[in-house]
Amino acid sequence: MNIRDLLNQRVLQAMQACGIPADLPALIAPGKKAGFGDYQANCAMGAAKQMGKNPRELATAIVAAMDLKGIASKLEIAGPGFINIDLAPEWLGSSLATAQTDSRLDIPQTTNPQTVVIDYSGPNLAKEMHVGHLRSTIIGDALARLLEFQGHKVIRQNHVGDWGTQFGMLIAELEEQLAQNKQMDLKDLEVFYQQAKKHFDEDETFAQKARDYVVRLQSGDALMQKLWQQFKDLSLAHSKEIYQNLNVTLTDSDVRGESFYNDDLAPLVEELKTKGFAQESEGAQVVFLEELADKDGNPSPVIIQKQGGGYLYATTDLAALRFRVNKLNANRIMYFIDARQSLHMQQVFTVARKAAFVDASVSLEHLAFGTMMGEDGKPFKTRSGGTVKLADLLEEAVERASVLVKEKNPELAANEISEISRKVGIGSVKYADLSKTRTNDYIFNWDSMLSFEGNTAPYLQYAYTRVQSIFRKAECDPTALSSNIMIQSEQEKNLAIKLLQFSEVLDQVAREAIPHVLCTYLYELASLYMTFYEACPILKEGITEDLRNSRLRLCHLVARTIEKGLDLLGIEVMERM
Ligand code: ARG
Repeated sequence: MNIRDLLNQRVLQAMQACGIPADLPALIAPGKKAGFGDYQANCAMGAAKQMGKNPRELATAIVAAMDLKGIASKLEIAGPGFINIDLAPEWLGSSLATAQTDSRLDIPQTTNPQTVVIDYSGPNLAKEMHVGHLRSTIIGDALARLLEFQGHKVIRQNHVGDWGTQFGMLIAELEEQLAQNKQMDLKDLEVFYQQAKKHFDEDETFAQKARDYVVRLQSGDALMQKLWQQFKDLSLAHSKEIYQNLNVTLTDSDVRGESFYNDDLAPLVEELKTKGFAQESEGAQVVFLEELADKDGNPSPVIIQKQGGGYLYATTDLAALRFRVNKLNANRIMYFIDARQSLHMQQVFTVARKAAFVDASVSLEHLAFGTMMGEDGKPFKTRSGGTVKLADLLEEAVERASVLVKEKNPELAANEISEISRKVGIGSVKYADLSKTRTNDYIFNWDSMLSFEGNTAPYLQYAYTRVQSIFRKAECDPTALSSNIMIQSEQEKNLAIKLLQFSEVLDQVAREAIPHVLCTYLYELASLYMTFYEACPILKEGITEDLRNSRLRLCHLVARTIEKGLDLLGIEVMERM
Protein backbone atom coordinates (compact mmCIF):
# COMPACT_ATOMS: atom_id res chain seq x y z
CA MET A 1 0.00 0.00 0.00
CA ASN A 2 1.25 3.46 -0.87
CA ILE A 3 -0.98 6.06 0.79
CA ARG A 4 0.54 8.94 -1.03
CA ASP A 5 -0.05 7.43 -4.48
CA LEU A 6 -3.59 6.48 -3.58
CA LEU A 7 -4.49 9.95 -2.29
CA ASN A 8 -2.71 11.52 -5.20
CA GLN A 9 -4.85 9.59 -7.62
CA ARG A 10 -8.10 10.43 -5.83
CA VAL A 11 -7.28 14.12 -5.49
CA LEU A 12 -6.31 14.35 -9.17
CA GLN A 13 -9.66 12.82 -10.12
CA ALA A 14 -11.48 15.39 -8.00
CA MET A 15 -9.41 18.20 -9.50
CA GLN A 16 -10.36 17.08 -12.98
CA ALA A 17 -13.98 16.95 -12.03
CA CYS A 18 -13.62 20.60 -11.01
CA GLY A 19 -12.22 21.52 -14.39
CA ILE A 20 -8.64 22.04 -13.20
CA PRO A 21 -6.08 21.57 -16.00
CA ALA A 22 -4.76 18.00 -15.96
CA ASP A 23 -1.11 18.98 -15.72
CA LEU A 24 -1.45 20.59 -12.29
CA PRO A 25 -0.14 18.44 -9.40
CA ALA A 26 -2.06 17.29 -6.33
CA LEU A 27 0.94 17.89 -4.03
CA ILE A 28 0.15 15.33 -1.37
CA ALA A 29 2.39 15.19 1.68
CA PRO A 30 2.14 13.70 5.14
CA GLY A 31 0.80 16.30 7.57
CA LYS A 32 3.77 17.74 9.39
CA LYS A 33 2.13 19.06 12.55
CA ALA A 34 -1.01 18.75 14.59
CA GLY A 35 -3.80 20.47 12.67
CA PHE A 36 -2.33 19.51 9.31
CA GLY A 37 -4.31 16.29 9.01
CA ASP A 38 -2.67 12.91 8.52
CA TYR A 39 -1.99 14.00 4.96
CA GLN A 40 -2.37 17.31 3.26
CA ALA A 41 -3.11 18.27 -0.35
CA ASN A 42 -1.79 21.59 -1.53
CA CYS A 43 -3.54 21.59 -4.87
CA ALA A 44 -6.06 24.40 -4.66
CA MET A 45 -3.99 27.57 -4.34
CA GLY A 46 -1.90 27.20 -7.48
CA ALA A 47 -4.88 26.10 -9.55
CA ALA A 48 -7.06 28.96 -8.23
CA LYS A 49 -4.42 31.47 -9.17
CA GLN A 50 -4.12 30.07 -12.65
CA MET A 51 -7.90 29.94 -13.10
CA GLY A 52 -8.61 33.28 -11.44
CA LYS A 53 -10.74 31.70 -8.72
CA ASN A 54 -10.96 31.96 -4.97
CA PRO A 55 -8.68 29.27 -3.50
CA ARG A 56 -10.87 28.31 -0.54
CA GLU A 57 -13.89 28.01 -2.79
CA LEU A 58 -11.97 25.84 -5.21
CA ALA A 59 -10.73 23.70 -2.31
CA THR A 60 -14.33 23.28 -1.17
CA ALA A 61 -15.35 22.14 -4.63
CA ILE A 62 -12.46 19.67 -4.78
CA VAL A 63 -13.42 18.24 -1.40
CA ALA A 64 -17.03 17.86 -2.55
CA ALA A 65 -15.88 16.00 -5.67
CA MET A 66 -13.45 13.75 -3.81
CA ASP A 67 -14.14 10.06 -3.47
CA LEU A 68 -12.40 8.92 -0.31
CA LYS A 69 -15.27 6.91 1.06
CA GLY A 70 -14.02 4.31 3.48
CA ILE A 71 -10.49 5.77 3.32
CA ALA A 72 -10.74 9.16 4.99
CA SER A 73 -12.62 9.93 8.18
CA LYS A 74 -12.42 13.69 7.79
CA LEU A 75 -11.66 16.21 5.06
CA GLU A 76 -11.09 19.76 6.12
CA ILE A 77 -10.03 22.99 4.49
CA ALA A 78 -7.31 24.83 6.35
CA GLY A 79 -5.70 28.24 5.97
CA PRO A 80 -5.74 29.73 2.48
CA GLY A 81 -6.91 26.48 0.86
CA PHE A 82 -4.99 23.43 2.07
CA ILE A 83 -7.00 20.22 2.23
CA ASN A 84 -6.39 18.19 5.37
CA ILE A 85 -7.11 14.50 5.11
CA ASP A 86 -7.59 12.32 8.17
CA LEU A 87 -7.48 8.61 7.53
CA ALA A 88 -10.20 6.32 8.83
CA PRO A 89 -9.11 3.96 11.63
CA GLU A 90 -10.95 1.00 10.02
CA TRP A 91 -9.18 1.62 6.74
CA LEU A 92 -5.83 1.86 8.50
CA GLY A 93 -6.58 -1.39 10.32
CA SER A 94 -7.47 -3.33 7.22
CA SER A 95 -4.50 -1.94 5.25
CA LEU A 96 -2.20 -3.00 8.08
CA ALA A 97 -3.77 -6.43 8.20
CA THR A 98 -3.10 -6.89 4.49
CA ALA A 99 0.51 -5.81 4.93
CA GLN A 100 1.06 -8.04 7.93
CA THR A 101 0.11 -11.20 6.07
CA ASP A 102 1.70 -10.27 2.74
CA SER A 103 5.18 -11.56 1.92
CA ARG A 104 6.10 -8.17 0.45
CA LEU A 105 4.45 -6.20 3.25
CA ASP A 106 1.99 -5.10 0.59
CA ILE A 107 4.67 -3.01 -1.11
CA PRO A 108 3.80 -2.91 -4.80
CA GLN A 109 6.29 -3.80 -7.50
CA THR A 110 7.09 -0.92 -9.78
CA THR A 111 4.82 -0.48 -12.78
CA ASN A 112 7.75 0.95 -14.71
CA PRO A 113 10.62 -1.54 -14.40
CA GLN A 114 13.95 -0.19 -15.60
CA THR A 115 17.31 -1.71 -16.32
CA VAL A 116 19.55 -0.04 -13.78
CA VAL A 117 23.32 -0.36 -13.93
CA ILE A 118 24.94 0.34 -10.58
CA ASP A 119 28.64 1.07 -10.58
CA TYR A 120 30.01 0.63 -7.07
CA SER A 121 32.95 -0.50 -4.98
CA GLY A 122 35.51 -0.51 -7.85
CA PRO A 123 38.70 -0.97 -5.83
CA ASN A 124 42.07 -0.77 -7.51
CA LEU A 125 43.40 -4.29 -7.48
CA ALA A 126 46.97 -3.38 -6.72
CA LYS A 127 46.05 -2.44 -3.18
CA GLU A 128 44.27 -4.00 -0.29
CA MET A 129 40.76 -2.59 0.22
CA HIS A 130 40.82 0.33 2.63
CA VAL A 131 38.30 2.64 4.26
CA GLY A 132 38.18 4.74 1.11
CA HIS A 133 36.21 1.92 -0.52
CA LEU A 134 33.69 1.56 2.25
CA ARG A 135 31.16 4.22 1.34
CA SER A 136 30.83 3.32 -2.33
CA THR A 137 30.53 -0.36 -1.47
CA ILE A 138 27.82 -0.11 1.15
CA ILE A 139 25.76 2.75 -0.28
CA GLY A 140 25.81 1.22 -3.76
CA ASP A 141 24.81 -2.14 -2.36
CA ALA A 142 21.87 -0.67 -0.45
CA LEU A 143 20.51 0.89 -3.63
CA ALA A 144 21.04 -2.31 -5.57
CA ARG A 145 19.03 -4.26 -2.99
CA LEU A 146 16.27 -1.68 -2.90
CA LEU A 147 15.84 -1.27 -6.65
CA GLU A 148 15.79 -5.02 -7.05
CA PHE A 149 13.10 -5.32 -4.39
CA GLN A 150 11.05 -2.75 -6.25
CA GLY A 151 11.17 -4.91 -9.33
CA HIS A 152 13.82 -3.25 -11.44
CA LYS A 153 16.43 -5.21 -13.31
CA VAL A 154 19.63 -4.33 -11.49
CA ILE A 155 23.02 -4.96 -13.08
CA ARG A 156 25.85 -4.53 -10.63
CA GLN A 157 29.14 -3.44 -12.15
CA ASN A 158 32.31 -3.64 -10.11
CA HIS A 159 34.59 -1.40 -12.19
CA VAL A 160 37.83 -2.59 -10.62
CA GLY A 161 41.10 -0.88 -11.47
CA ASP A 162 43.01 -3.74 -13.09
CA TRP A 163 44.80 -2.11 -15.98
CA GLY A 164 47.07 0.76 -14.92
CA THR A 165 50.83 0.97 -15.55
CA GLN A 166 51.53 -0.37 -12.05
CA PHE A 167 50.56 -3.82 -13.30
CA GLY A 168 53.86 -4.20 -15.14
CA MET A 169 55.64 -3.82 -11.86
CA LEU A 170 53.29 -6.14 -10.02
CA ILE A 171 53.51 -8.86 -12.63
CA ALA A 172 57.29 -8.64 -12.69
CA GLU A 173 57.33 -9.01 -8.92
CA LEU A 174 54.90 -11.89 -9.01
CA GLU A 175 57.02 -13.63 -11.63
CA GLU A 176 60.17 -13.31 -9.52
CA GLN A 177 58.49 -14.57 -6.41
CA LEU A 178 57.06 -17.52 -8.29
CA ALA A 179 60.47 -18.26 -9.77
CA GLN A 180 61.95 -18.34 -6.27
CA ASN A 181 59.24 -20.85 -5.52
CA LYS A 182 57.76 -18.63 -2.88
CA GLN A 183 54.28 -19.57 -1.88
CA MET A 184 52.26 -16.82 -3.49
CA ASP A 185 50.11 -15.25 -0.90
CA LEU A 186 48.61 -11.85 -1.41
CA LYS A 187 46.91 -11.82 1.93
CA ASP A 188 48.74 -8.64 2.53
CA LEU A 189 48.48 -6.86 -0.77
CA GLU A 190 49.89 -3.74 0.76
CA VAL A 191 53.18 -5.44 1.62
CA PHE A 192 53.35 -7.00 -1.79
CA TYR A 193 52.78 -3.65 -3.44
CA GLN A 194 55.45 -2.00 -1.30
CA GLN A 195 57.94 -4.74 -2.14
CA ALA A 196 57.29 -4.37 -5.83
CA LYS A 197 57.56 -0.60 -5.59
CA LYS A 198 60.82 -0.79 -3.67
CA HIS A 199 62.20 -3.22 -6.20
CA PHE A 200 61.11 -0.92 -8.99
CA ASP A 201 62.73 2.15 -7.42
CA GLU A 202 66.00 0.46 -6.51
CA ASP A 203 66.69 -1.94 -9.34
CA GLU A 204 66.93 -0.43 -12.81
CA THR A 205 66.89 -3.81 -14.60
CA PHE A 206 63.70 -4.69 -12.75
CA ALA A 207 62.19 -1.30 -13.56
CA GLN A 208 63.00 -1.73 -17.22
CA LYS A 209 61.42 -5.16 -17.17
CA ALA A 210 58.31 -3.77 -15.47
CA ARG A 211 57.89 -1.10 -18.15
CA ASP A 212 58.40 -3.67 -20.85
CA TYR A 213 55.77 -5.89 -19.23
CA VAL A 214 53.09 -3.21 -19.29
CA VAL A 215 53.52 -2.82 -23.01
CA ARG A 216 53.48 -6.58 -23.52
CA LEU A 217 50.45 -7.00 -21.29
CA GLN A 218 48.46 -4.31 -23.01
CA SER A 219 49.26 -5.68 -26.44
CA GLY A 220 47.97 -9.10 -25.49
CA ASP A 221 51.10 -11.17 -24.77
CA ALA A 222 49.94 -14.58 -23.53
CA LEU A 223 52.50 -15.06 -20.75
CA MET A 224 51.84 -11.59 -19.38
CA GLN A 225 48.12 -12.17 -19.50
CA LYS A 226 48.54 -15.38 -17.58
CA LEU A 227 50.55 -13.79 -14.77
CA TRP A 228 48.22 -10.83 -14.69
CA GLN A 229 45.24 -13.15 -14.42
CA GLN A 230 46.89 -14.91 -11.46
CA PHE A 231 47.46 -11.62 -9.77
CA LYS A 232 43.90 -10.55 -10.42
CA ASP A 233 42.46 -13.79 -9.09
CA LEU A 234 44.38 -13.48 -5.85
CA SER A 235 43.48 -9.88 -5.46
CA LEU A 236 39.82 -10.43 -6.23
CA ALA A 237 39.68 -13.26 -3.73
CA HIS A 238 40.66 -10.70 -1.13
CA SER A 239 37.85 -8.34 -2.16
CA LYS A 240 35.42 -11.19 -2.17
CA GLU A 241 36.28 -12.00 1.41
CA ILE A 242 35.62 -8.38 2.37
CA TYR A 243 32.29 -8.38 0.55
CA GLN A 244 31.25 -11.50 2.41
CA ASN A 245 32.24 -10.06 5.77
CA LEU A 246 30.41 -6.88 4.93
CA ASN A 247 27.28 -8.73 3.81
CA VAL A 248 27.51 -7.05 0.43
CA THR A 249 25.87 -8.75 -2.56
CA LEU A 250 28.69 -8.27 -5.08
CA THR A 251 29.89 -11.50 -6.66
CA ASP A 252 32.59 -12.53 -9.14
CA SER A 253 30.18 -12.18 -12.02
CA ASP A 254 29.69 -8.48 -11.24
CA VAL A 255 33.35 -7.73 -11.83
CA ARG A 256 33.94 -5.96 -15.10
CA GLY A 257 37.22 -4.17 -14.69
CA GLU A 258 38.90 -1.49 -16.70
CA SER A 259 40.77 -4.09 -18.76
CA PHE A 260 37.51 -5.32 -20.24
CA TYR A 261 37.22 -2.15 -22.32
CA ASN A 262 40.75 -2.24 -23.70
CA ASP A 263 39.78 -3.22 -27.23
CA ASP A 264 37.25 -0.44 -27.50
CA LEU A 265 39.60 2.39 -26.55
CA ALA A 266 41.30 2.93 -29.92
CA PRO A 267 38.02 2.85 -31.92
CA LEU A 268 36.45 5.18 -29.36
CA VAL A 269 39.20 7.77 -29.73
CA GLU A 270 39.04 7.36 -33.50
CA GLU A 271 35.31 8.01 -33.47
CA LEU A 272 35.65 11.13 -31.36
CA LYS A 273 38.30 12.33 -33.80
CA THR A 274 36.26 11.72 -36.95
CA LYS A 275 33.15 13.24 -35.43
CA GLY A 276 35.25 16.31 -34.78
CA PHE A 277 35.00 16.29 -31.00
CA ALA A 278 38.59 15.35 -30.21
CA GLN A 279 41.54 17.37 -31.42
CA GLU A 280 45.26 17.13 -31.11
CA SER A 281 46.86 19.30 -28.49
CA GLU A 282 50.55 18.97 -27.65
CA GLY A 283 50.59 15.45 -29.04
CA ALA A 284 47.59 14.33 -26.99
CA GLN A 285 43.99 13.82 -28.09
CA VAL A 286 41.73 16.18 -26.18
CA VAL A 287 38.01 16.99 -26.12
CA PHE A 288 37.47 20.62 -25.13
CA LEU A 289 34.15 21.15 -23.39
CA GLU A 290 32.64 24.63 -23.65
CA GLU A 291 29.81 23.30 -21.50
CA LEU A 292 32.13 23.04 -18.53
CA ALA A 293 34.16 26.17 -19.17
CA ASP A 294 35.73 27.96 -16.19
CA LYS A 295 34.68 31.47 -15.21
CA ASP A 296 37.13 33.00 -17.68
CA GLY A 297 35.49 31.05 -20.47
CA ASN A 298 38.29 28.51 -20.97
CA PRO A 299 36.78 25.19 -22.04
CA SER A 300 37.39 22.19 -19.82
CA PRO A 301 39.94 19.83 -21.40
CA VAL A 302 39.33 16.08 -21.27
CA ILE A 303 42.40 14.14 -22.36
CA ILE A 304 41.37 10.86 -23.93
CA GLN A 305 44.75 9.79 -25.28
CA LYS A 306 48.13 10.80 -23.98
CA GLN A 307 51.09 11.81 -26.06
CA GLY A 308 52.70 8.46 -26.80
CA GLY A 309 49.39 6.68 -27.21
CA GLY A 310 48.33 5.67 -23.66
CA TYR A 311 44.69 5.89 -22.68
CA LEU A 312 43.25 7.34 -19.50
CA TYR A 313 40.71 6.77 -16.76
CA ALA A 314 38.20 8.93 -18.66
CA THR A 315 38.67 6.98 -21.91
CA THR A 316 37.85 3.75 -20.13
CA ASP A 317 34.84 5.31 -18.44
CA LEU A 318 33.52 6.48 -21.80
CA ALA A 319 33.90 2.98 -23.20
CA ALA A 320 32.19 1.54 -20.12
CA LEU A 321 29.32 3.97 -20.44
CA ARG A 322 28.82 3.07 -24.08
CA PHE A 323 28.87 -0.63 -23.22
CA ARG A 324 26.28 -0.14 -20.49
CA VAL A 325 23.96 1.68 -22.84
CA ASN A 326 24.40 -0.48 -25.94
CA LYS A 327 25.05 -3.92 -24.53
CA LEU A 328 23.46 -3.86 -21.10
CA ASN A 329 20.54 -1.72 -22.32
CA ALA A 330 20.59 0.51 -19.27
CA ASN A 331 17.84 3.07 -18.70
CA ARG A 332 19.52 4.42 -15.63
CA ILE A 333 23.21 4.33 -14.72
CA MET A 334 24.16 5.11 -11.15
CA TYR A 335 27.77 5.79 -10.18
CA PHE A 336 28.60 5.64 -6.49
CA ILE A 337 31.90 7.44 -6.50
CA ASP A 338 33.63 9.88 -4.17
CA ALA A 339 32.70 13.56 -4.58
CA ARG A 340 36.33 14.28 -5.43
CA GLN A 341 35.74 12.67 -8.80
CA SER A 342 32.85 15.02 -9.65
CA LEU A 343 34.64 16.86 -12.41
CA HIS A 344 35.73 13.58 -13.95
CA MET A 345 32.16 12.27 -13.97
CA GLN A 346 30.77 15.51 -15.36
CA GLN A 347 33.32 15.41 -18.15
CA VAL A 348 32.54 11.81 -18.99
CA PHE A 349 28.79 12.45 -19.03
CA THR A 350 29.14 15.59 -21.13
CA VAL A 351 31.38 13.96 -23.73
CA ALA A 352 29.06 10.95 -23.89
CA ARG A 353 25.98 13.10 -24.48
CA LYS A 354 27.75 15.26 -27.01
CA ALA A 355 29.04 12.32 -28.98
CA ALA A 356 25.59 10.70 -28.82
CA PHE A 357 26.94 7.59 -27.08
CA VAL A 358 23.84 7.91 -24.96
CA ASP A 359 20.52 9.54 -25.67
CA ALA A 360 18.45 11.79 -23.47
CA SER A 361 16.20 8.99 -22.25
CA VAL A 362 19.02 7.39 -20.26
CA SER A 363 19.60 8.85 -16.84
CA LEU A 364 23.27 9.28 -15.88
CA GLU A 365 23.77 9.90 -12.19
CA HIS A 366 26.93 10.55 -10.27
CA LEU A 367 25.79 9.87 -6.72
CA ALA A 368 28.67 11.48 -4.96
CA PHE A 369 29.49 11.02 -1.31
CA GLY A 370 31.64 12.83 1.20
CA THR A 371 34.69 11.61 3.07
CA MET A 372 34.83 9.52 6.22
CA MET A 373 36.69 11.62 8.78
CA GLY A 374 38.55 10.86 11.98
CA GLU A 375 37.83 12.58 15.30
CA ASP A 376 40.37 15.22 14.33
CA GLY A 377 38.22 16.26 11.38
CA LYS A 378 40.77 14.98 8.88
CA PRO A 379 40.32 11.96 6.59
CA PHE A 380 40.20 8.80 8.71
CA LYS A 381 43.68 7.31 9.27
CA THR A 382 45.41 4.87 11.59
CA ARG A 383 47.03 6.31 14.67
CA SER A 384 50.36 6.36 12.87
CA GLY A 385 48.80 8.16 9.90
CA GLY A 386 48.51 5.19 7.53
CA THR A 387 45.46 4.12 5.55
CA VAL A 388 43.08 1.93 7.52
CA LYS A 389 42.59 -1.47 5.95
CA LEU A 390 38.98 -2.44 5.64
CA ALA A 391 39.67 -5.93 6.94
CA ASP A 392 41.14 -4.50 10.15
CA LEU A 393 38.33 -2.03 10.61
CA LEU A 394 35.69 -4.74 10.31
CA GLU A 395 37.54 -6.99 12.71
CA GLU A 396 37.71 -4.21 15.25
CA ALA A 397 33.98 -3.51 14.83
CA VAL A 398 33.08 -7.12 15.63
CA GLU A 399 35.46 -7.18 18.58
CA ARG A 400 34.02 -4.00 20.05
CA ALA A 401 30.49 -5.27 19.51
CA SER A 402 31.27 -8.50 21.33
CA VAL A 403 32.27 -6.59 24.45
CA LEU A 404 28.90 -4.84 24.42
CA VAL A 405 26.90 -7.94 23.64
CA LYS A 406 28.49 -9.87 26.53
CA GLU A 407 27.84 -6.95 28.84
CA LYS A 408 24.20 -6.73 27.84
CA ASN A 409 23.45 -10.40 28.09
CA PRO A 410 26.05 -12.50 29.93
CA GLU A 411 23.82 -15.56 29.63
CA LEU A 412 24.37 -16.04 25.91
CA ALA A 413 26.33 -19.05 24.65
CA ALA A 414 29.70 -18.44 23.01
CA ASN A 415 28.52 -19.25 19.49
CA GLU A 416 25.54 -16.95 19.89
CA ILE A 417 27.81 -14.16 21.09
CA SER A 418 30.02 -14.42 18.07
CA GLU A 419 27.10 -14.51 15.66
CA ILE A 420 25.35 -11.55 17.30
CA SER A 421 28.58 -9.56 17.58
CA ARG A 422 29.22 -10.00 13.90
CA LYS A 423 25.77 -8.71 13.00
CA VAL A 424 25.93 -5.83 15.46
CA GLY A 425 29.52 -4.83 14.64
CA ILE A 426 29.20 -4.91 10.87
CA GLY A 427 25.69 -3.49 11.04
CA SER A 428 26.91 -0.56 13.12
CA VAL A 429 29.64 0.40 10.70
CA LYS A 430 27.27 0.22 7.76
CA TYR A 431 24.38 1.96 9.46
CA ALA A 432 26.55 4.80 10.73
CA ASP A 433 27.50 5.49 7.16
CA LEU A 434 24.11 4.97 5.54
CA SER A 435 22.29 7.11 8.09
CA LYS A 436 24.30 10.24 7.23
CA THR A 437 23.36 12.56 4.39
CA ARG A 438 25.26 10.97 1.53
CA THR A 439 26.87 14.09 0.15
CA ASN A 440 28.34 15.25 3.47
CA ASP A 441 31.59 14.26 5.13
CA TYR A 442 31.05 12.49 8.44
CA ILE A 443 33.07 11.73 11.53
CA PHE A 444 33.68 8.09 12.24
CA ASN A 445 33.04 7.40 15.92
CA TRP A 446 32.99 3.93 17.47
CA ASP A 447 31.05 4.88 20.58
CA SER A 448 28.16 6.59 18.86
CA MET A 449 27.73 3.95 16.15
CA LEU A 450 27.72 1.13 18.71
CA SER A 451 25.32 2.85 21.07
CA PHE A 452 22.00 1.24 21.96
CA GLU A 453 20.45 4.72 22.11
CA GLY A 454 19.68 6.91 19.14
CA ASN A 455 19.66 6.41 15.40
CA THR A 456 21.98 3.39 15.30
CA ALA A 457 21.97 -0.21 14.11
CA PRO A 458 22.05 -1.65 17.65
CA TYR A 459 18.99 0.42 18.62
CA LEU A 460 16.99 -1.00 15.72
CA GLN A 461 18.32 -4.52 16.14
CA TYR A 462 17.42 -4.33 19.79
CA ALA A 463 13.92 -3.04 19.02
CA TYR A 464 13.50 -6.04 16.74
CA THR A 465 14.58 -8.50 19.44
CA ARG A 466 12.18 -6.90 21.91
CA VAL A 467 9.27 -7.67 19.65
CA GLN A 468 10.50 -11.23 19.26
CA SER A 469 10.63 -11.63 23.00
CA ILE A 470 6.97 -10.61 23.26
CA PHE A 471 6.03 -13.45 20.94
CA ARG A 472 8.12 -15.88 22.96
CA LYS A 473 6.45 -14.68 26.12
CA ALA A 474 2.98 -14.87 24.59
CA GLU A 475 3.82 -18.27 23.08
CA CYS A 476 2.23 -17.03 19.93
CA ASP A 477 2.89 -17.49 16.26
CA PRO A 478 2.13 -14.03 14.88
CA THR A 479 1.60 -15.31 11.35
CA ALA A 480 -1.40 -17.30 12.59
CA LEU A 481 -3.27 -14.29 13.99
CA SER A 482 -6.31 -13.27 12.05
CA SER A 483 -8.48 -10.98 14.16
CA ASN A 484 -8.95 -7.38 13.03
CA ILE A 485 -6.37 -4.73 13.68
CA MET A 486 -8.06 -2.04 15.74
CA ILE A 487 -6.70 1.47 15.71
CA GLN A 488 -8.06 3.20 18.79
CA SER A 489 -5.47 5.18 20.71
CA GLU A 490 -3.37 8.08 19.50
CA GLN A 491 -0.25 5.92 19.79
CA GLU A 492 -1.75 3.17 17.68
CA LYS A 493 -2.76 5.64 15.02
CA ASN A 494 0.65 7.27 14.84
CA LEU A 495 2.29 3.88 14.60
CA ALA A 496 -0.22 2.73 11.97
CA ILE A 497 0.39 5.67 9.68
CA LYS A 498 4.14 5.36 10.03
CA LEU A 499 3.98 1.68 9.15
CA LEU A 500 1.94 2.37 6.04
CA GLN A 501 4.43 5.00 4.89
CA PHE A 502 7.16 2.44 4.33
CA SER A 503 6.38 2.15 0.64
CA GLU A 504 6.50 5.86 -0.09
CA VAL A 505 9.75 6.20 1.82
CA LEU A 506 11.27 3.44 -0.29
CA ASP A 507 10.15 5.23 -3.44
CA GLN A 508 11.89 8.40 -2.38
CA VAL A 509 15.07 6.60 -1.36
CA ALA A 510 15.18 4.77 -4.69
CA ARG A 511 14.52 7.90 -6.71
CA GLU A 512 17.07 10.11 -5.01
CA ALA A 513 19.52 7.44 -3.83
CA ILE A 514 19.40 8.70 -0.26
CA PRO A 515 19.48 5.75 2.16
CA HIS A 516 19.62 8.07 5.17
CA VAL A 517 15.92 8.75 4.65
CA LEU A 518 15.21 5.06 5.13
CA CYS A 519 17.36 5.07 8.29
CA THR A 520 15.50 8.06 9.69
CA TYR A 521 12.23 6.34 8.89
CA LEU A 522 13.23 3.14 10.70
CA TYR A 523 14.44 5.09 13.68
CA GLU A 524 11.17 7.02 13.92
CA LEU A 525 9.22 3.81 13.50
CA ALA A 526 11.11 2.12 16.33
CA SER A 527 10.62 5.17 18.53
CA LEU A 528 6.88 5.25 17.86
CA TYR A 529 6.82 1.56 18.64
CA MET A 530 8.44 2.19 22.03
CA THR A 531 5.83 4.86 22.77
CA PHE A 532 3.05 2.53 21.72
CA TYR A 533 4.51 -0.23 23.85
CA GLU A 534 4.55 2.00 26.94
CA ALA A 535 0.99 3.21 26.42
CA CYS A 536 -0.80 0.17 25.08
CA PRO A 537 -0.59 -2.97 27.21
CA ILE A 538 -0.53 -6.21 25.25
CA LEU A 539 -0.15 -9.19 27.52
CA LYS A 540 -1.61 -7.60 30.62
CA GLU A 541 -4.51 -9.11 32.58
CA GLY A 542 -7.86 -7.70 31.51
CA ILE A 543 -7.00 -7.02 27.87
CA THR A 544 -9.53 -8.70 25.60
CA GLU A 545 -8.28 -11.37 23.28
CA ASP A 546 -9.24 -9.29 20.26
CA LEU A 547 -7.29 -6.29 21.45
CA ARG A 548 -4.34 -8.43 22.44
CA ASN A 549 -4.27 -10.06 19.01
CA SER A 550 -4.70 -6.74 17.26
CA ARG A 551 -1.71 -5.33 19.12
CA LEU A 552 0.34 -8.45 18.52
CA ARG A 553 -0.29 -8.09 14.83
CA LEU A 554 0.87 -4.48 14.98
CA CYS A 555 4.03 -5.60 16.82
CA HIS A 556 4.64 -8.21 14.19
CA LEU A 557 4.34 -5.74 11.36
CA VAL A 558 6.74 -3.40 13.15
CA ALA A 559 9.29 -6.19 13.45
CA ARG A 560 8.89 -7.22 9.84
CA THR A 561 9.21 -3.65 8.64
CA ILE A 562 12.39 -3.12 10.65
CA GLU A 563 13.74 -6.42 9.40
CA LYS A 564 12.95 -5.60 5.78
CA GLY A 565 14.24 -2.04 6.06
CA LEU A 566 17.51 -3.22 7.56
CA ASP A 567 17.77 -6.01 5.01
CA LEU A 568 17.50 -3.44 2.21
CA LEU A 569 20.40 -1.64 3.85
CA GLY A 570 22.35 -4.89 4.02
CA ILE A 571 22.05 -5.25 7.80
CA GLU A 572 21.00 -8.41 9.61
CA VAL A 573 18.75 -8.87 12.63
CA MET A 574 18.81 -11.53 15.36
CA GLU A 575 16.16 -13.18 17.50
CA ARG A 576 17.72 -12.17 20.79
CA MET A 577 20.60 -10.17 22.14
N1 ARG B 1 38.91 2.52 -9.23
C1 ARG B 1 38.36 3.82 -9.00
C2 ARG B 1 39.00 4.44 -7.77
O1 ARG B 1 39.50 3.73 -6.92
C3 ARG B 1 36.88 3.79 -8.77
C4 ARG B 1 36.10 3.33 -9.95
C5 ARG B 1 34.76 3.97 -10.00
N2 ARG B 1 34.02 3.66 -11.18
C6 ARG B 1 34.17 4.24 -12.37
N3 ARG B 1 33.40 3.87 -13.35
N4 ARG B 1 35.07 5.20 -12.55
O2 ARG B 1 39.00 5.65 -7.64
